[in-house]
Amino acid sequence: MNIHSIGILGAGKVGIVLAQLARHAGYEVYIAGSTDPKKIALTTKILAPGAHAVSKEEAALKSDIVILAIPLSKYASLPKAELAGKLVIDAMNYWDEIDGPRSDTVPELESSSEFIQAFLDQSRVVKALSHMGYHELHDMARPAGDAARKAIAIAGNNPQDVALVERLVNSIGFNTVILGDLAKGRVLEPGHSGFGASLSADQLRSYLTH
Ligand SMILES: NC(=O)c1ccc[n+]([C@@H]2O[C@H](COP(=O)([O-])OP(=O)(O)OC[C@H]3O[C@@H](n4cnc5c(N)ncnc54)[C@H](OP(=O)(O)O)[C@@H]3O)[C@@H](O)[C@H]2O)c1
Repeated sequence: MNIHSIGILGAGKVGIVLAQLARHAGYEVYIAGSTDPKKIALTTKILAPGAHAVSKEEAALKSDIVILAIPLSKYASLPKAELAGKLVIDAMNYWDEIDGPRSDTVPELESSSEFIQAFLDQSRVVKALSHMGYHELHDMARPAGDAARKAIAIAGNNPQDVALVERLVNSIGFNTVILGDLAKGRVLEPGHSGFGASLSADQLRSYLTH
């Protein structure tokens, strides 16, 4: 599959940075906030020129890959029908200060991405782009081969989907570390070792596997 278009649900800090990186890499970008696209049109035009500010339904429908960048506790407002059949990157974290106690929403033994996969049961969810802060995503993106490149960890149940996400992550400026299935993504969540990691691929691999 060729990746032409990226949808981003959430036009906040991380959503806008991902829109910038995806535009820079040459993708068509459709970005959505929670309500009327007019509310994010000017921010989008200034901060991510060339990206289209659209409704969340349109962003989902028009894009080859859709990135979730909304507060995790708002998951039920995702356009589930329009995301059916799509490859979806879960860049969200359960953040108690914003979302309330995790145990109120996500079962203790499940990773948050398994929880999102269960909700989006007609989509294919891969966890990625969640463990690095938005400012580091912005500042640390580098061309392929640059020795200073940092790595993004990826977890997903389907190797073909993981490979597509790997290609996308590489194209926007980061190396990758493949963790395994979605359950393995738990290590990237707040309170776990991978959260906040901004490391080279070798460092991140060794950090997460030892
Ligand atoms: N901040 C970081 O450094 C960082 C890094 C990696 C991952 N993350 C994760 O990424 C997610 C977003 O974080 P953030 O810091 O970017 O939050 P943020 O600045 O508060 O932005 C959240 C955005 O989500 C939008 N939104 C809410 N429900 C939506 C829906 N159903 N469809 C489309 N958009 C919706 C909000 O729109 P309105 O303003 O219209 O409500 C807002 O634009 C969180 O899960 C966070 O844990 C954050």
